[in-house]
Amino acid sequence: MWHPCTQMKLHETHPLVPIARGKGSWLYDFDDRRYLDAISSWWVNLFGHAHPAIAAAIAAQAGALEHVMLAGCTHRPAVELSERLAALAPRGLGHCFYASDGASAVEIALKMSFHFWRNSGRAEKTGFISLAQGYHGETLGALSVTDVALFRDAYRDLLIEHAIVPSPDARLAPRGLSARDHAIAAAAALEAHLDAHHETTAALIVEPLVQGAAGMAMYDVHYLVLARELCTRYDVLLIADEIMTGFGRTGSMFACEQAAIGPDFLCLSKGISGGFLPLSAVLTTDAVYAAFYADEVARGFLHSHSYTGNALACSAALAVLDIFHDEDVIAVNRERARALSRHAEPIAAHAKVSGFRQCGMIWAFEVTSIRSDFARWCFADALGRELLLRPIGNTVYWMPPYCLTDDEMRLLGERTLEMVECA
Ligand SMILES: Cc1ncc(COP(=O)(O)O)c(C=O)c1O
Repeated sequence: MWHPCTQMKLHETHPLVPIARGKGSWLYDFDDRRYLDAISSWWVNLFGHAHPAIAAAIAAQAGALEHVMLAGCTHRPAVELSERLAALAPRGLGHCFYASDGASAVEIALKMSFHFWRNSGRAEKTGFISLAQGYHGETLGALSVTDVALFRDAYRDLLIEHAIVPSPDARLAPRGLSARDHAIAAAAALEAHLDAHHETTAALIVEPLVQGAAGMAMYDVHYLVLARELCTRYDVLLIADEIMTGFGRTGSMFACEQAAIGPDFLCLSKGISGGFLPLSAVLTTDAVYAAFYADEVARGFLHSHSYTGNALACSAALAVLDIFHDEDVIAVNRERARALSRHAEPIAAHAKVSGFRQCGMIWAFEVTSIRSDFARWCFADALGRELLLRPIGNTVYWMPPYCLTDDEMRLLGERTLEMVECA
């Protein structure tokens, strides 16, 4: 096997962790050693591993219809999921296009926004804008609007040229400037760019509130308000990539809600199926849909993936939405977040820790360490303490499943503190 996002040679010295099973917040290896999944397995798991209700929904669906292509056919789980997502999402996003992974949702939003302008008689609007240090996935289109040198540099010549504007990341605020004022300054830079280039710009893509791969960079909500205003004023479409932030991670169902804005495209994936199956969706507006609705085939959105709207994945997503509804997850998470923040207080106060921050169910901080390979060391050290952590550089973060118990929170706080002390 060739593993993702991995220099395989490193496994000569750092063996893979063989996982036999999962239950709740825990993963277990073949010797029944356990690891608390503090990062929700790359941010996908919401309610714990092997959640019985989601597993049962998939099993029931598998007995009825596992899959049918969505071109020319339709099925109940996909229809029902579209209706329910549209009802939950910011107003005006009544059309749902499915894919499998996050990056494929980003590809769809990029292609649709580009094609929208072409269909609208403004074929010169072809450019994209993204935020500095943003991350949107690894396929060529998504990588084009990603600003992480390690992932991009080798492929630079393959990528679509686009513009990068400053990130509102509060960590980058000059001394004395508040997070809000820094966000306003970043929005001013966006405005300057739009003022000069709006006639050739199709869309702006952002990760609302938290830039995950940048090291859980959090920013002031006002940036989103201003970005929406600017996109409307300059006739540029706004793509909200909520692949990581969606489904309650930032404390609301979708991060955009906190700014009370509606994007033109909402990209969803990861938590959508509770971490069970690959599924992504792009929600968009009547205006976008109408621009493709015509007698000519070529005006349509002729994009597809074989597993688009897979019935098993949609049934998992429906079970996830049932849990959100039945267990009032967003409200319950507020209390959970307060409790875990209390367990994090000694970490936040530790001399080796800086930039401690939290947004909804995401916590992050930077660790000053003598180790040049801190991220790798931390991963291995944490495993020895029964924790699955995967720092980004010197940034340690928690993005746990929402089912953490009080004891698990205490364990996570205490063991992470022990790791920091040895860093
Ligand atoms: C904001 C964001 N967009 C897109 C992606 C890509 O999703 P996937 O890895 O499912 O292709 C990710 C993955 O981490 C992400 O965090």
